Amino acid sequence: MASLYWYRLMASLSKINVSLLLFVIFFFSTHDSTMVEAKYRTSSKNLTNKVSALIVFGDSYFDTGNNNDFFSIAKSNHKPYGIDFPFQIPTGRFSNGVNLADIIASYLGVTEFVPAYLDKTKDLQTLMAGVNFASAGSGYDQLSGQQSNAILIQKQFEYFKEYKTKLELSMGQIGTQLHLENAVFLINYGTNDIVTTYFYGHRKKQFTIEGYLQFLLQNAMNFFQGLFDLGARRIVVAGLLPTGCTPVLGRSNSVLKKPCLLNLYSNLSSDFNKKLQDGINSMQLEFLKYNGIIVYADLFLPMSDITQNPMKYGYEFTDIACCGLGFTDVGLFCNFLSKICTDRSQFVYFDNFHPTQKTYQILFNAIRGVIDLMIPT
Ligand SMILES: *[C@@H]1O[C@H](CO)[C@@H](O)[C@H](O)[C@H]1NC(C)=O
Ligand SMILES: *[C@@H]1O[C@H](CO)[C@@H](O)[C@H](O)[C@H]1NC(C)=O
Repeated sequence: MASLYWYRLMASLSKINVSLLLFVIFFFSTHDSTMVEAKYRTSSKNLTNKVSALIVFGDSYFDTGNNNDFFSIAKSNHKPYGIDFPFQIPTGRFSNGVNLADIIASYLGVTEFVPAYLDKTKDLQTLMAGVNFASAGSGYDQLSGQQSNAILIQKQFEYFKEYKTKLELSMGQIGTQLHLENAVFLINYGTNDIVTTYFYGHRKKQFTIEGYLQFLLQNAMNFFQGLFDLGARRIVVAGLLPTGCTPVLGRSNSVLKKPCLLNLYSNLSSDFNKKLQDGINSMQLEFLKYNGIIVYADLFLPMSDITQNPMKYGYEFTDIACCGLGFTDVGLFCNFLSKICTDRSQFVYFDNFHPTQKTYQILFNAIRGVIDLMIPT
Protein backbone atom coordinates (compact mmCIF):
# COMPACT_ATOMS: atom_id res chain seq x y z
CA MET A 1 0.00 0.00 0.00
CA ALA A 2 2.74 2.36 0.95
CA SER A 3 4.53 1.79 -2.32
CA LEU A 4 1.38 2.61 -4.24
CA TYR A 5 1.21 5.86 -2.34
CA TRP A 6 4.78 6.68 -3.34
CA TYR A 7 4.09 5.65 -6.88
CA ARG A 8 1.14 8.01 -7.15
CA LEU A 9 3.11 10.73 -5.49
CA MET A 10 5.96 10.35 -7.92
CA ALA A 11 3.69 10.00 -10.92
CA SER A 12 2.14 13.31 -10.03
CA LEU A 13 5.42 15.00 -9.29
CA SER A 14 6.63 14.00 -12.73
CA LYS A 15 3.97 16.21 -14.23
CA ILE A 16 5.24 19.05 -12.12
CA ASN A 17 8.94 18.70 -12.47
CA VAL A 18 10.75 15.95 -14.25
CA SER A 19 14.13 16.77 -12.77
CA LEU A 20 12.74 16.53 -9.28
CA LEU A 21 11.21 13.16 -10.11
CA LEU A 22 14.60 11.93 -11.23
CA PHE A 23 16.08 13.20 -8.03
CA VAL A 24 13.41 11.47 -5.98
CA ILE A 25 14.01 8.19 -7.81
CA PHE A 26 17.73 8.61 -7.31
CA PHE A 27 17.18 9.38 -3.66
CA PHE A 28 15.14 6.25 -3.07
CA SER A 29 17.20 3.93 -5.21
CA THR A 30 20.36 4.86 -3.37
CA HIS A 31 18.78 4.25 0.02
CA ASP A 32 18.17 0.60 0.64
CA SER A 33 14.57 -0.39 1.03
CA THR A 34 14.90 -1.65 4.59
CA MET A 35 15.76 1.87 5.59
CA VAL A 36 12.58 3.15 4.00
CA GLU A 37 10.61 0.39 5.74
CA ALA A 38 12.22 1.27 9.04
CA LYS A 39 11.17 4.83 8.50
CA TYR A 40 7.57 3.67 8.33
CA ARG A 41 7.84 1.58 11.46
CA THR A 42 9.33 4.35 13.53
CA SER A 43 6.93 6.89 12.11
CA SER A 44 3.94 7.54 14.31
CA LYS A 45 1.79 7.78 11.22
CA ASN A 46 -0.61 4.95 10.61
CA LEU A 47 -0.92 4.86 6.84
CA THR A 48 -4.29 3.18 6.95
CA ASN A 49 -5.77 6.15 8.73
CA LYS A 50 -7.79 8.38 6.49
CA VAL A 51 -7.77 12.15 6.48
CA SER A 52 -8.61 13.60 9.89
CA ALA A 53 -9.50 17.16 8.94
CA LEU A 54 -9.33 19.90 6.37
CA ILE A 55 -7.57 23.02 7.63
CA VAL A 56 -7.93 26.05 5.40
CA PHE A 57 -6.03 29.34 5.05
CA GLY A 58 -6.61 32.00 2.44
CA ASP A 59 -8.71 34.85 1.13
CA SER A 60 -12.23 35.26 -0.23
CA TYR A 61 -12.03 32.22 -2.49
CA PHE A 62 -11.98 30.03 0.63
CA ASP A 63 -13.48 32.21 3.38
CA THR A 64 -16.60 30.66 4.90
CA GLY A 65 -17.52 33.49 7.25
CA ASN A 66 -14.54 34.73 9.26
CA ASN A 67 -15.21 38.36 8.29
CA ASN A 68 -18.82 38.28 9.42
CA ASP A 69 -18.46 39.88 12.82
CA PHE A 70 -16.31 42.92 12.21
CA PHE A 71 -16.29 45.79 9.77
CA SER A 72 -14.77 45.08 6.38
CA ILE A 73 -15.82 45.84 2.81
CA ALA A 74 -14.94 42.23 2.02
CA LYS A 75 -18.14 40.74 3.40
CA SER A 76 -20.68 38.42 1.90
CA ASN A 77 -23.00 37.45 4.74
CA HIS A 78 -25.88 39.20 3.04
CA LYS A 79 -28.15 38.46 0.11
CA PRO A 80 -27.84 37.51 -2.69
CA TYR A 81 -24.82 35.46 -1.55
CA GLY A 82 -25.87 31.98 -0.53
CA ILE A 83 -28.94 32.01 -2.75
CA ASP A 84 -28.27 28.34 -3.60
CA PHE A 85 -26.91 27.40 -0.16
CA PRO A 86 -29.15 25.20 2.02
CA PHE A 87 -32.03 27.40 3.25
CA GLN A 88 -30.58 30.23 1.11
CA ILE A 89 -28.42 31.38 4.02
CA PRO A 90 -25.77 34.01 3.23
CA THR A 91 -22.94 32.55 5.29
CA GLY A 92 -19.97 34.69 4.34
CA ARG A 93 -19.04 32.51 1.38
CA PHE A 94 -18.36 34.47 -1.81
CA SER A 95 -20.53 32.19 -3.88
CA ASN A 96 -24.14 31.44 -4.61
CA GLY A 97 -23.60 28.15 -2.77
CA VAL A 98 -20.56 26.38 -1.39
CA ASN A 99 -16.98 27.22 -2.31
CA LEU A 100 -13.95 25.15 -3.26
CA ALA A 101 -12.91 24.52 0.35
CA ASP A 102 -16.31 22.97 1.12
CA ILE A 103 -16.19 20.83 -2.01
CA ILE A 104 -12.75 19.49 -1.10
CA ALA A 105 -13.83 18.80 2.49
CA SER A 106 -16.87 16.88 1.27
CA TYR A 107 -14.72 14.85 -1.11
CA LEU A 108 -12.28 13.99 1.68
CA GLY A 109 -15.24 12.91 3.75
CA VAL A 110 -14.43 15.10 6.73
CA THR A 111 -17.23 17.66 6.68
CA GLU A 112 -19.70 19.12 4.24
CA PHE A 113 -19.29 22.78 5.16
CA VAL A 114 -15.94 23.91 6.56
CA PRO A 115 -16.74 26.03 9.63
CA ALA A 116 -15.16 29.44 10.02
CA TYR A 117 -12.83 29.47 13.03
CA LEU A 118 -14.46 32.65 14.35
CA ASP A 119 -17.97 31.22 14.16
CA LYS A 120 -18.91 31.19 17.84
CA THR A 121 -21.69 28.67 17.30
CA LYS A 122 -19.15 25.94 16.43
CA ASP A 123 -17.53 23.98 19.25
CA LEU A 124 -14.10 22.36 19.22
CA GLN A 125 -15.61 18.97 18.45
CA THR A 126 -17.00 20.36 15.20
CA LEU A 127 -13.77 22.19 14.37
CA MET A 128 -11.83 18.94 14.72
CA ALA A 129 -13.04 17.68 11.34
CA GLY A 130 -12.50 20.95 9.55
CA VAL A 131 -11.62 24.50 10.33
CA ASN A 132 -11.26 27.56 8.18
CA PHE A 133 -9.03 30.54 8.96
CA ALA A 134 -9.39 32.20 5.55
CA SER A 135 -10.40 35.82 5.49
CA ALA A 136 -11.56 37.75 2.45
CA GLY A 137 -9.12 40.51 1.55
CA SER A 138 -5.99 38.92 2.97
CA GLY A 139 -2.83 37.96 1.12
CA TYR A 140 0.72 36.67 1.39
CA ASP A 141 1.49 40.37 1.85
CA GLN A 142 0.15 41.55 5.21
CA LEU A 143 -0.58 44.94 3.68
CA SER A 144 -3.40 43.34 1.70
CA GLY A 145 -5.21 42.35 4.87
CA GLN A 146 -4.51 45.74 6.45
CA GLN A 147 -5.98 47.64 3.53
CA SER A 148 -9.24 45.73 3.53
CA ASN A 149 -9.45 45.19 7.29
CA ALA A 150 -9.22 41.44 6.89
CA ILE A 151 -7.55 38.90 9.18
CA LEU A 152 -3.90 39.13 8.25
CA ILE A 153 -2.03 36.00 7.22
CA GLN A 154 0.04 36.21 10.45
CA LYS A 155 -3.13 36.47 12.50
CA GLN A 156 -4.58 33.44 10.71
CA PHE A 157 -1.40 31.62 11.70
CA GLU A 158 -1.81 32.78 15.33
CA TYR A 159 -5.37 31.50 15.32
CA PHE A 160 -4.09 28.15 14.09
CA LYS A 161 -1.64 28.01 17.00
CA GLU A 162 -4.51 28.77 19.36
CA TYR A 163 -6.52 25.98 17.72
CA LYS A 164 -3.61 23.60 18.16
CA THR A 165 -3.39 24.47 21.87
CA LYS A 166 -7.09 23.76 22.25
CA LEU A 167 -6.61 20.40 20.51
CA GLU A 168 -3.75 19.55 22.87
CA LEU A 169 -5.93 20.23 25.89
CA SER A 170 -8.58 17.99 24.42
CA MET A 171 -6.64 15.09 22.82
CA GLY A 172 -3.15 15.44 24.27
CA GLN A 173 0.11 16.17 22.51
CA ILE A 174 0.52 12.86 20.72
CA GLY A 175 -3.14 12.83 19.71
CA THR A 176 -2.80 16.34 18.31
CA GLN A 177 0.37 15.47 16.46
CA LEU A 178 -1.36 12.51 14.81
CA HIS A 179 -4.41 14.60 14.07
CA LEU A 180 -2.34 17.25 12.30
CA GLU A 181 -0.24 14.68 10.43
CA ASN A 182 -3.43 13.23 9.02
CA ALA A 183 -5.01 16.57 8.27
CA VAL A 184 -4.98 18.17 4.84
CA PHE A 185 -3.92 21.83 4.80
CA LEU A 186 -5.35 23.91 1.99
CA ILE A 187 -3.89 27.31 1.19
CA ASN A 188 -4.64 30.04 -1.32
CA TYR A 189 -3.56 33.66 -1.15
CA GLY A 190 -2.03 36.05 -3.65
CA THR A 191 -4.91 37.46 -5.67
CA ASN A 192 -5.40 40.56 -3.52
CA ASP A 193 -1.66 41.20 -3.44
CA ILE A 194 -1.41 41.18 -7.20
CA VAL A 195 -4.60 42.93 -8.22
CA THR A 196 -4.81 45.61 -5.55
CA THR A 197 -1.99 45.89 -3.06
CA TYR A 198 0.86 46.22 -5.51
CA PHE A 199 -0.80 48.79 -7.73
CA TYR A 200 -2.84 50.74 -5.21
CA GLY A 201 -0.77 50.38 -2.08
CA HIS A 202 2.72 51.62 -1.26
CA ARG A 203 4.32 48.49 -2.62
CA LYS A 204 4.74 49.84 -6.14
CA LYS A 205 7.13 52.46 -4.78
CA GLN A 206 9.09 49.83 -2.87
CA PHE A 207 9.34 46.99 -5.37
CA THR A 208 9.58 46.29 -9.07
CA ILE A 209 6.86 43.87 -10.03
CA GLU A 210 9.40 41.06 -10.27
CA GLY A 211 10.74 41.98 -6.85
CA TYR A 212 7.23 42.02 -5.44
CA LEU A 213 6.42 38.53 -6.76
CA GLN A 214 9.64 37.34 -5.17
CA PHE A 215 8.64 39.01 -1.89
CA LEU A 216 5.25 37.25 -2.03
CA LEU A 217 6.94 33.94 -2.72
CA GLN A 218 9.25 34.38 0.26
CA ASN A 219 6.27 35.13 2.52
CA ALA A 220 4.49 32.09 1.12
CA MET A 221 7.43 29.78 1.75
CA ASN A 222 7.84 31.10 5.29
CA PHE A 223 4.18 30.43 5.88
CA PHE A 224 4.37 26.83 4.59
CA GLN A 225 7.49 26.26 6.66
CA GLY A 226 5.73 27.66 9.73
CA LEU A 227 2.87 25.19 9.27
CA PHE A 228 5.32 22.35 8.75
CA ASP A 229 7.11 23.29 11.97
CA LEU A 230 3.79 23.09 13.82
CA GLY A 231 3.13 19.61 12.47
CA ALA A 232 1.45 19.99 9.07
CA ARG A 233 2.49 17.16 6.76
CA ARG A 234 0.04 17.30 3.88
CA ILE A 235 -0.27 20.66 2.21
CA VAL A 236 -2.11 21.65 -0.95
CA VAL A 237 -1.33 25.12 -2.25
CA ALA A 238 -3.81 26.33 -4.81
CA GLY A 239 -2.42 28.59 -7.51
CA LEU A 240 -3.99 31.79 -8.73
CA LEU A 241 -6.83 31.97 -11.21
CA PRO A 242 -6.40 34.07 -14.35
CA THR A 243 -7.42 37.14 -12.36
CA GLY A 244 -7.51 39.36 -15.43
CA CYS A 245 -10.58 37.43 -16.58
CA THR A 246 -12.69 38.26 -13.55
CA PRO A 247 -15.52 40.42 -14.89
CA VAL A 248 -14.42 43.50 -12.97
CA LEU A 249 -10.84 43.40 -14.28
CA GLY A 250 -11.67 41.92 -17.67
CA ARG A 251 -14.00 44.81 -18.46
CA SER A 252 -11.71 47.55 -17.22
CA ASN A 253 -8.91 46.04 -19.32
CA SER A 254 -10.95 45.51 -22.44
CA VAL A 255 -9.89 48.92 -23.78
CA LEU A 256 -6.55 47.27 -24.46
CA LYS A 257 -8.36 44.78 -26.69
CA LYS A 258 -6.26 41.95 -25.39
CA PRO A 259 -7.82 38.59 -24.58
CA CYS A 260 -8.28 38.58 -20.80
CA LEU A 261 -5.98 35.58 -20.44
CA LEU A 262 -3.12 37.71 -21.74
CA ASN A 263 -3.75 40.95 -19.91
CA LEU A 264 -1.49 42.29 -17.19
CA TYR A 265 -3.36 40.72 -14.26
CA SER A 266 -3.56 37.26 -15.80
CA ASN A 267 0.10 37.40 -16.77
CA LEU A 268 1.10 38.36 -13.24
CA SER A 269 -1.01 35.54 -11.81
CA SER A 270 0.60 33.10 -14.17
CA ASP A 271 4.09 34.44 -13.36
CA PHE A 272 3.43 34.07 -9.66
CA ASN A 273 2.08 30.54 -10.16
CA LYS A 274 5.33 29.51 -11.81
CA LYS A 275 7.35 30.85 -8.91
CA LEU A 276 5.05 29.16 -6.45
CA GLN A 277 5.49 25.81 -8.18
CA ASP A 278 9.26 26.11 -8.08
CA GLY A 279 9.16 27.14 -4.44
CA ILE A 280 6.94 24.20 -3.52
CA ASN A 281 9.15 21.77 -5.43
CA SER A 282 12.15 23.04 -3.54
CA MET A 283 10.47 22.18 -0.22
CA GLN A 284 9.35 18.73 -1.31
CA LEU A 285 12.33 16.81 -0.04
CA GLU A 286 12.02 18.11 3.49
CA PHE A 287 8.39 17.01 3.52
CA LEU A 288 9.26 13.60 2.08
CA LYS A 289 11.75 13.01 4.85
CA TYR A 290 8.90 13.24 7.34
CA ASN A 291 6.45 11.20 5.29
CA GLY A 292 4.86 14.43 4.22
CA ILE A 293 3.87 15.99 0.95
CA ILE A 294 3.32 19.51 -0.32
CA VAL A 295 1.75 19.99 -3.72
CA TYR A 296 0.68 22.75 -6.05
CA ALA A 297 -2.87 22.60 -7.40
CA ASP A 298 -3.25 24.44 -10.67
CA LEU A 299 -6.48 26.39 -11.14
CA PHE A 300 -5.19 28.64 -13.91
CA LEU A 301 -5.41 26.15 -16.77
CA PRO A 302 -8.86 24.77 -15.95
CA MET A 303 -10.20 28.31 -15.55
CA SER A 304 -8.57 29.27 -18.85
CA ASP A 305 -10.37 26.40 -20.51
CA ILE A 306 -13.67 27.51 -19.00
CA THR A 307 -13.00 31.05 -20.20
CA GLN A 308 -12.12 29.99 -23.73
CA ASN A 309 -14.70 27.24 -24.13
CA PRO A 310 -17.68 28.28 -22.00
CA MET A 311 -20.17 26.36 -24.16
CA LYS A 312 -18.38 23.09 -23.35
CA TYR A 313 -19.51 23.55 -19.76
CA GLY A 314 -22.92 24.97 -20.55
CA TYR A 315 -22.07 28.58 -19.72
CA GLU A 316 -23.61 31.54 -21.44
CA PHE A 317 -21.69 34.33 -19.71
CA THR A 318 -18.00 34.61 -18.88
CA ASP A 319 -17.48 38.37 -18.79
CA ILE A 320 -20.49 39.52 -16.82
CA ALA A 321 -21.39 38.27 -13.38
CA CYS A 322 -24.66 36.93 -12.08
CA CYS A 323 -24.72 39.56 -9.35
CA GLY A 324 -24.84 43.01 -10.90
CA LEU A 325 -25.24 41.75 -14.46
CA GLY A 326 -22.60 43.98 -15.95
CA PHE A 327 -21.57 46.28 -13.13
CA THR A 328 -18.84 45.98 -10.53
CA ASP A 329 -20.80 44.46 -7.68
CA VAL A 330 -18.53 42.58 -5.27
CA GLY A 331 -18.69 42.08 -1.50
CA LEU A 332 -20.65 44.92 0.12
CA PHE A 333 -21.50 46.15 -3.38
CA CYS A 334 -23.19 42.93 -4.36
CA ASN A 335 -26.33 43.34 -2.26
CA PHE A 336 -30.09 43.56 -2.23
CA LEU A 337 -29.95 46.45 -4.71
CA SER A 338 -28.04 44.38 -7.27
CA LYS A 339 -29.68 42.82 -10.26
CA ILE A 340 -29.36 39.08 -10.04
CA CYS A 341 -29.53 36.41 -12.72
CA THR A 342 -32.11 33.66 -12.51
CA ASP A 343 -30.07 30.78 -13.91
CA ARG A 344 -26.74 30.62 -12.04
CA SER A 345 -25.58 27.64 -14.07
CA GLN A 346 -25.10 29.92 -17.09
CA PHE A 347 -22.59 32.13 -15.29
CA VAL A 348 -18.90 31.48 -14.66
CA TYR A 349 -18.83 34.23 -12.02
CA PHE A 350 -21.35 34.87 -9.29
CA ASP A 351 -20.18 38.34 -8.31
CA ASN A 352 -17.71 40.35 -10.35
CA PHE A 353 -14.73 38.64 -8.81
CA HIS A 354 -15.77 35.21 -7.54
CA PRO A 355 -16.90 32.05 -9.32
CA THR A 356 -20.27 30.41 -9.00
CA GLN A 357 -20.61 27.14 -7.14
CA LYS A 358 -20.79 25.36 -10.50
CA THR A 359 -17.43 26.83 -11.48
CA TYR A 360 -15.88 25.80 -8.17
CA GLN A 361 -17.15 22.28 -8.86
CA ILE A 362 -15.51 22.21 -12.30
CA LEU A 363 -12.26 23.55 -10.82
CA PHE A 364 -12.41 20.82 -8.21
CA ASN A 365 -12.81 18.14 -10.88
CA ALA A 366 -9.63 19.47 -12.47
CA ILE A 367 -7.57 19.17 -9.28
CA ARG A 368 -9.07 15.96 -7.92
CA GLY A 369 -5.94 14.03 -8.85
CA VAL A 370 -3.87 16.32 -6.66
CA ILE A 371 -6.31 16.01 -3.76
CA ASP A 372 -6.15 12.22 -4.12
CA LEU A 373 -2.46 12.40 -3.28
CA MET A 374 -3.48 13.62 0.18
CA ILE A 375 -5.40 10.44 0.90
CA PRO A 376 -3.21 7.58 2.05
CA THR A 377 -4.14 4.35 0.33
C1 LIG B 1 -4.23 1.76 11.73
O1 LIG B 1 -5.53 2.35 11.69
C2 LIG B 1 -6.56 1.44 11.34
C3 LIG B 1 -7.85 2.22 11.20
O2 LIG B 1 -7.95 3.27 12.11
C4 LIG B 1 -6.62 0.32 12.40
O3 LIG B 1 -7.63 -0.59 12.06
C5 LIG B 1 -5.28 -0.38 12.46
O4 LIG B 1 -5.29 -1.35 13.48
C6 LIG B 1 -4.16 0.62 12.72
N1 LIG B 1 -2.86 -0.07 12.60
C7 LIG B 1 -1.86 0.13 13.45
C8 LIG B 1 -0.60 -0.64 13.17
O5 LIG B 1 -1.94 0.88 14.42
C1 LIG C 1 1.13 38.66 -21.45
O1 LIG C 1 1.99 37.65 -21.92
C2 LIG C 1 1.87 37.37 -23.31
C3 LIG C 1 2.81 36.24 -23.71
O2 LIG C 1 3.23 35.50 -22.64
C4 LIG C 1 2.19 38.62 -24.12
O3 LIG C 1 1.98 38.37 -25.49
C5 LIG C 1 1.29 39.77 -23.67
O4 LIG C 1 1.64 40.95 -24.33
C6 LIG C 1 1.41 39.96 -22.17
N1 LIG C 1 0.47 41.00 -21.76
C7 LIG C 1 0.84 42.12 -21.18
C8 LIG C 1 -0.24 43.08 -20.81
O5 LIG C 1 2.00 42.38 -20.94
